[in-house]
Amino acid sequence: MSLSIVILAAGKGTRMRSDLPKVLQPLAHKPLLGYVINASMSVNPSQLVIVYGYGGNLVKKAFPSEHIQWVEQKEQLGTGHAVQQAIPLIKDEGCTLILYGDVPLIDQETIQSLIKKGQKNLVVLTYQKENPKGYGRIVRKDDRIQKIVEEKDCDALQKNIKEINTGIMCAPNHLLKNWLKRLNNQNVQKEYYLTDIVGLSIEDNIEVLSESADNEVSITGINSKFELATMERSYQLMTAKKLMEEGVTIIDPSRIDIRGEVTAGQDVLIDVGCIFEGKVILGNHVKIAAYSHVKDSVIGDHTSIEPYSHIVQSVIGENCRIGPFARLRPGTKLQNKVHIGNFVEIKNSEVNNETNINHLSYVGDSLVGKSVNIGAGAITCNYDGANKHPTTIEDDVFIGSNTALVAPIKIGKGATIAAGSTITKDAPPGELTVSRSKQTSISGWTKPTKK
Ligand code: UD1
Ligand code: CA
Repeated sequence: MSLSIVILAAGKGTRMRSDLPKVLQPLAHKPLLGYVINASMSVNPSQLVIVYGYGGNLVKKAFPSEHIQWVEQKEQLGTGHAVQQAIPLIKDEGCTLILYGDVPLIDQETIQSLIKKGQKNLVVLTYQKENPKGYGRIVRKDDRIQKIVEEKDCDALQKNIKEINTGIMCAPNHLLKNWLKRLNNQNVQKEYYLTDIVGLSIEDNIEVLSESADNEVSITGINSKFELATMERSYQLMTAKKLMEEGVTIIDPSRIDIRGEVTAGQDVLIDVGCIFEGKVILGNHVKIAAYSHVKDSVIGDHTSIEPYSHIVQSVIGENCRIGPFARLRPGTKLQNKVHIGNFVEIKNSEVNNETNINHLSYVGDSLVGKSVNIGAGAITCNYDGANKHPTTIEDDVFIGSNTALVAPIKIGKGATIAAGSTITKDAPPGELTVSRSKQTSISGWTKPTKK
């Protein structure tokens, strides 16, 4: 049986008060419409049509998939009018599922049961809502759906109905096409209501079925920044719950943000306020302490990230200790038992086993060997104002505090660099290299006095 899916995404979303079209507003860093497209793809439709309007080109550009057919609705004359725009593309056989581009968390199981019921009849996804204000109400007689009445068209009795129209429905194509031709806009909003196809089905003596959603989040639409933030929290809680079910200890699931995908090993602990972005892989017994931000990185077994660390596109080995207040920038590769301490920045560098860089350093474009100690405030000067240059520090080197290594430069195995040195030439292995002016004391010198 052929399945068409039509996603309605033409609305402007005035209440968002944004230049960005509503369906491109981000939920966990991904545009709302992306969730609906993914849910659609998960049931392998034979076609996916998206009705766009406001911000059209931006919306199209955000989803450059060849599987999507785009249809423009130039004027937003209602949900029925929106589906009418898609009709010329829809096959005669099979059925069509209608989804909303601003209802992101619709799930695969719900979609599947709608498709099953929608082969011969119109089926409407409804929900029992404590406060139904603003929604279309499902009017039933002897339990059977008679019509859907929009809030603005409701009489006093209908306003009390708690069963609402989620907007999501499925119908056989030949019926849908026939009903859409018969829509009019004689209602309070002067719109072509898709919901009127319910009444038309009853007119044609075809029973209208319903499916009831059991999870409110899955049918909730987004109209404002507040609703977006509320849904963000629901989504984050769902994501945190999934991780906890896999055994991750999350100190407070209401204070974590996963804007991508986290894969975690055994006995991982995540403290409050952490943000994960992109693809993050955590090994066994990894600890991420409070307020750390990890993006597109891999962290090895038994490594501990101390509070307020910022880690992007880095690969960290086992048994390392990073932070507090460490910054690992793209291209950082740490082997095992490496210690990176407070206010240390590493970029595009490889650091080998058991090396310590514990305080206030910048290491960029460098290859650092095993068991190296880089003292407080030592930095690589990798940039000459025009080009970047590499630094090599071989195994067992000791770099004294406040050293400047002017790249390109190489420090030989086992060398010691005296504190405060500015090193501009390669330092030989095994020796002490000092490069600073000799200390002198001027006897009899007196402090200046105020004139
Ligand atoms: C619609 C339903 C209402 C239901 C509610 C659920 C109708 C007439 N009413 O109401 O019964 O309870 O959704 O949220 O269908 N859209 C277009 N083009 C248009 C109008 C809308 O693409 O011309 C899209 C919007 O972008 C949105 C969806 O359709 O994704 C729903 O539009 P919206 O204006 O929110 O519908 P409501 O009037 O709230
Ligand atoms: Ca709405």
